[in-house]
Amino acid sequence: MNTTVTIGRTTFANPVLAASGTFEFGLKFPAVANRLGGVVTKAITLQPRVGNPPPRICEFPGGILNSVGLENPGVEKFCTEVVPRTAKLKCRVLVNIAGFTVEEYGELAARLDSEPVDAFEVNVSCPNVREGGALFGQQPQVVEAITTLVRRRTAKTVIVKLTANFVDPVETAKAAEAAGADGVTLINTLFGLALDENGRPFLGGRTGGVSGPALKPFALFCVDRVAAAVKIPIVGCGGIMDSADAFDFLSAGARMVQVGTASLVNPEAALEVWAGMKECAAKNRLTGWEQIVGRARRRGG
Ligand SMILES: Cc1cc2nc3c(=O)[nH]c(=O)nc-3n(C[C@H](O)[C@H](O)[C@H](O)COP(=O)(O)O)c2cc1C
Repeated sequence: MNTTVTIGRTTFANPVLAASGTFEFGLKFPAVANRLGGVVTKAITLQPRVGNPPPRICEFPGGILNSVGLENPGVEKFCTEVVPRTAKLKCRVLVNIAGFTVEEYGELAARLDSEPVDAFEVNVSCPNVREGGALFGQQPQVVEAITTLVRRRTAKTVIVKLTANFVDPVETAKAAEAAGADGVTLINTLFGLALDENGRPFLGGRTGGVSGPALKPFALFCVDRVAAAVKIPIVGCGGIMDSADAFDFLSAGARMVQVGTASLVNPEAALEVWAGMKECAAKNRLTGWEQIVGRARRRGG
C-alpha cells in the first residue's frame, strides 16, 4: 500500500506527525523522527521567549495541563542554530509559528520562507495583544487575515492549527480554507485550571492547556464536523495514545494525525502509533488511506 499523504506541496512518507511542543525539534530522538511522516517544531515567535515560571505541567487522571508559555529561541536563533540540524532529518519538518499581532505571522513566514523547512503550521491559539488578549483563532475574520498574510509571504505548505476554545472551529476552518490554507490541524489544547491543596492555582502560568486522552472525544467531534464543512485536508490531534486512536481520527475525516502528550510519556509513542497503523493496514489489506478517511459519515454516523 502507498502510505504517503500529500498536503499542499508536501508529501509525507506516512500520516503520523509529532505534535508541536511535545517533541522539541525532533533532534533528541532522530531515530524516531526519521521514521515519522514529520515533526512539528515547538512554537517559534519573532523574539526569544523564556516562557512561564514553573511548575509548567500538572498531571490529572485524563491527561495533563501545561503552561509552557511559548518558550523558544526566537526566529533568528532558530534559523541559524536549529534549522541546519533539522534539515538533516529524513522526515518532513513543519515550523509552528506564533505571533502576537497579525503582522507578526507574515514576518515569521517571510523570514522562514527561504529556509530548508517543509511547511508551516500556523498556531492561532495565541492571545491577540491588540484585541485585549482574545485568541486569534476565536475570530474567523482574524484567521482569514492571518492565513491570507502568511499565504502571501510563502510558497510553502500552510496548515492552520485551529483552536476550539470557546469557538466553533467549523467557521474558522472555513475562513482558513477561503484564505488559501492547504490544511487545518484540529485541535490545540483546551483551557484548564488545576488547583493545589490550598485551593490556589498549581501552575506557574496560573491556567494551562489540557491535553491527553481527555481531549480525544471532543477533538474527534471537531474533526467530524469540520470534515463535513471543508475540502482541505485535516490533521487530527488530541489524545492519540495508540494506533486505534489514530484510526478513529482518520475515520472521523482526518488525513493525518499528530501524537503529542503520548510522546512525553514514551518518546517512541508516535513511532509505535505508526507501526500499529501499518500492521492494521496490512492485516485488513487496505489499498489506500481513502478507504478509512471519513468512513464515520459514510456509514451514516
Ligand atoms: C507541553 C506541551 C507544549 C505544547 N506546545 C505547543 C506549541 O508550542 N504550539 C502548538 O501549536 N501546540 C502546542 N501544544 C499542543 C499540542 O501540539 C497538541 O495540539 C495538544 O497537546 C493535543 O494533543 P495531545 O492530546 O496528543 O497532546 C503543546 C502541548 C503540550 C502538552
